[in-house]
Amino acid sequence: MTSPYIVKVVIAKRKKALYYRSMNVSIIYFSLSGRTKMLSQYLAEYLKAEGYSVEINPLITRNIGAFVRNCIDAFTRRKVNLEYIPETNDAEILFLGSPVWAFDITPAMYVFLEKANLKDKKVFLYNTYGSGKGKDRAMALFCRKVESSGGKIIGKTDIKGRRVKDDFATFKETVQKCLNQS
Ligand SMILES: Cc1cc2nc3c(=O)[nH]c(=O)nc-3n(C[C@H](O)[C@H](O)[C@H](O)COP(=O)(O)O)c2cc1C
Repeated sequence: MTSPYIVKVVIAKRKKALYYRSMNVSIIYFSLSGRTKMLSQYLAEYLKAEGYSVEINPLITRNIGAFVRNCIDAFTRRKVNLEYIPETNDAEILFLGSPVWAFDITPAMYVFLEKANLKDKKVFLYNTYGSGKGKDRAMALFCRKVESSGGKIIGKTDIKGRRVKDDFATFKETVQKCLNQS
């Protein structure tokens, strides 16, 4: 005979699963050499497996140059042209991802943040980086920009671009904790 405690736990888990199933999340990222894209795809797979309804949108711009040009654009926060601005209205949680460029986030992400409606949106931020120089500064600026656009940050993390595959388990744990708390 099944104990009433186990029955209660099973019902609670099912309720939780049903609640999560109805949640729409949107992943919006910029990626030049593919690391942030790969991370965003892993994230999408993980969230789908958890029962979320996931939309994934890359930020696309043709205003890309060589390394130094891109650093200057990041430093000056060039207003690059985005091919489209992903819709955020239906998303209950937004995941925003960017590489670190010149100790900051990318111009494409700034342009998105200026144009998107983030009012009272729950937002999780993630960056990928190379050497790690300036990564904390980049995250602090990312947070400031999202908050000034009205978003509510529920979590943030960063990951070395070259270790996306190896360190995804740790990344996933951080995401999971934030989702459970929010
Ligand atoms: C223009 C440019 C500037 C960069 N600046 C930094 C930096 O300041 N600090 C850092 O740790 N990595 C820096 N990187 C490395 C990238 O953040 C890292 O390779 C990232 O994972 C690339 O993401 P992606 O493959 O999605 O484009 C820079 C890369 C580029 C192309």
